[in-house]
Amino acid sequence: MDQHHLNRLFTAEEINSIVKKLADQISRDYVGKELILVCILKGAFVFLSDLVRHLKIPVKIDFVRLASYGSGTKTTGRIEITKDLELPIEGKDVLIIEDIIDSGHTLKFLKDRIILSNPRSVKICALLDKKARRELEMEADYLGFDVEDVFIVGYGIDMNENYRNLPEIYYVTPTHHSKK
Ligand code: IMP
Ligand code: MG
Repeated sequence: MDQHHLNRLFTAEEINSIVKKLADQISRDYVGKELILVCILKGAFVFLSDLVRHLKIPVKIDFVRLASYGSGTKTTGRIEITKDLELPIEGKDVLIIEDIIDSGHTLKFLKDRIILSNPRSVKICALLDKKARRELEMEADYLGFDVEDVFIVGYGIDMNENYRNLPEIYYVTPTHHSKK
């Protein structure tokens, strides 16, 4: 059986400090605006919940869930909404909250779709960015950390639905049964 090992990448303290920094920036930039955070389920739920508690401005919160169809872990660009927005966003300032930008297909799809509802603005806040994996032009307006092309788990982010509850961020490496 294949085993894998979790290697810590960011501690809870490092995460807390970057999340607070992002919240401070957002709080400054959206003063006097009608901010709606759109959290992409499931991976961004922990990030969102920490981020909102550091915000110093009024905010509304909504969730979307996206399904991407393709082989394995690769996002192919065929994406569907399986849980749509519930709040009206026309004329509002929308900030999409995402866990990781990888190929960029998920965010491109969601951003284009949100724009069809005529919000006043649409921006992106991502905790992690794997720039080496990008297939489309897509940048976060607010970014926590750049990461290498590794598989990440923890802090809401999963591998086959596991590890979302871990308070720190890890990357996964394979381990093989060693000869004793
Ligand atoms: P994209 O459409 O290729 O940018 O894919 C982004 C989505 O893929 C993220 O929202 C994550 O849900 C998922 N994803 C990308 N990289 C990882 C990873 O390292 N661990 C877990 N999920 C990931
Ligand atoms: Mg995701």
